[in-house]
Amino acid sequence: HDVVWTTCRPTIRVLKKKRSTTRYHTMVSVAPLRAFVYLLASIPKQQRRYKGSVNKKSVGNRSRRNDDQKRTKPQASAVVLPSLTEPISGPFPTYYTCRHTYEDTLMEELKRWTPSIQLSSPCPGLVQVDGTPRSPLAGDNDVSPTSLQTDETAPYDPVYALQALPDCRIVTGESVKKLAIEVASAVETSSVLKAADASSLSIHALVPGMCKGQREPQGQRRAYLVADAVQELLKKQYPAARRQTLDVGEQTHSRILLQILLLSTELAAVSLTECSPITSTFSTMLWPNPNLPAGLAMVDMIRTMPSSAYRKLLEAFSCWNCMPSPEDVVVDLGASPGGWTAALLHICQSKRIIAVDRSELDPELMSHPAVEFVQGDAFTFLPNKPLDWMLSDVIAFPERVVELVDAWCSKGWAGRMIITVKFKGTKPSWEPLQLAVQTAQSHGYDARAKHFFNNKNEVTLMLQKRTTGDDDDCNNNNDTGTTR
Ligand SMILES: C[S@@+](CC[C@H](N)C(=O)[O-])C[C@H]1O[C@@H](n2cnc3c(N)ncnc32)[C@H](O)[C@@H]1O
Repeated sequence: HDVVWTTCRPTIRVLKKKRSTTRYHTMVSVAPLRAFVYLLASIPKQQRRYKGSVNKKSVGNRSRRNDDQKRTKPQASAVVLPSLTEPISGPFPTYYTCRHTYEDTLMEELKRWTPSIQLSSPCPGLVQVDGTPRSPLAGDNDVSPTSLQTDETAPYDPVYALQALPDCRIVTGESVKKLAIEVASAVETSSVLKAADASSLSIHALVPGMCKGQREPQGQRRAYLVADAVQELLKKQYPAARRQTLDVGEQTHSRILLQILLLSTELAAVSLTECSPITSTFSTMLWPNPNLPAGLAMVDMIRTMPSSAYRKLLEAFSCWNCMPSPEDVVVDLGASPGGWTAALLHICQSKRIIAVDRSELDPELMSHPAVEFVQGDAFTFLPNKPLDWMLSDVIAFPERVVELVDAWCSKGWAGRMIITVKFKGTKPSWEPLQLAVQTAQSHGYDARAKHFFNNKNEVTLMLQKRTTGDDDDCNNNNDTGTTR
């Protein structure tokens, strides 16, 4: 490639050093003291004590654990994200990461899901849920029917959450070694971990505030050291923890995810979970995401791009684990000045891009042989036969985007679509967003909406046709398409 797809902001140091711990990424701690005090207060005293090494359990610890298991509250039947850690005295907090400054929006969304849910934001980019989020389809009166999620069997997947850390255990340790022992001890009872395939475990080392996008987050080194030490301990017992070294940018095929969120020097939240496909159509999209620590993707490019908008497109490709192949025909609606078109050329090696806008693209793109520029209204563009991908970054009211989704999905004009839905002001418009999702679903598409790190007051819709049809509503022989 003539373009080097370099780094996401928080991982630049790791990637430059090409460490074998490519899967470890950290978050910066911006309010460690507050988080420490807050969390310590919620930990039962006996859990703060040293519990022995992973391999040498004391009889006392075992009997205490048995007592705790007897006291375990029954889990809600509609728990969607499966936790692999044995319940000891749950329920345990779940954390979601989000882009910093969007904590309130994520909390508003979670409240729409379960009005009585207990929420707090211990630091920027992090939301804590006490108790278990439930599916609104499970017949629980306490939940709102207006959630964007319509499939009860799908993992609980808030739009504004970049990553989920379900059912966290809180552990303490004065040194890296002691913290690692406590983390390993918190997950050692997992029978799924024992039975899992070799190298199927991903370990993400995180620190709060990572979602502020800082390049050198405070606490990163310690988090890596803890994660390395945990991996050393676990690999003695579990083949799943014997990881293979990854090349820069390479993605794992892991289905089991251990997330270690270092809340302060001596305190960590630990989540072990299985990652599930969003739907059978979206089989490459796993949630929680085992490939993107804290849900952050590598999106910075070395080459000068016509605009920075390409970053959110690359985030969608990373999250989806899918992007256009060089042969796929892609239409880019609202393409000017050409950030997305340039990303298609340089990342996907696209051989045919139809770029539609009222304004011309960057001169280099206008003369590129793979780019066909169509000047006109994106909303009246008609393809002459079904395309592989439709991308839209048109600035328009959300209601118009719903019309666009309806037009393209009802005709099956593209197998896959990535569409930004932009909101007026600083708040999301939930109703048109929900309508866009439902409209796509009603026409046989699976739909997922995500607020990526590089989305401001907008959300990215990802749509995929459930079955591929040969319908072609266009009878024009010109095979680029036209605007009316
Ligand atoms: C946010 S910019 C797109 C940026 C582009 N994705 C990139 O990567 O450089 C939105 C674009 O939508 C275009 N646009 C807005 N309304 C349009 C319409 N009705 N038809 C065509 N283009 C439109 C604007 O001209 C503008 O270039």
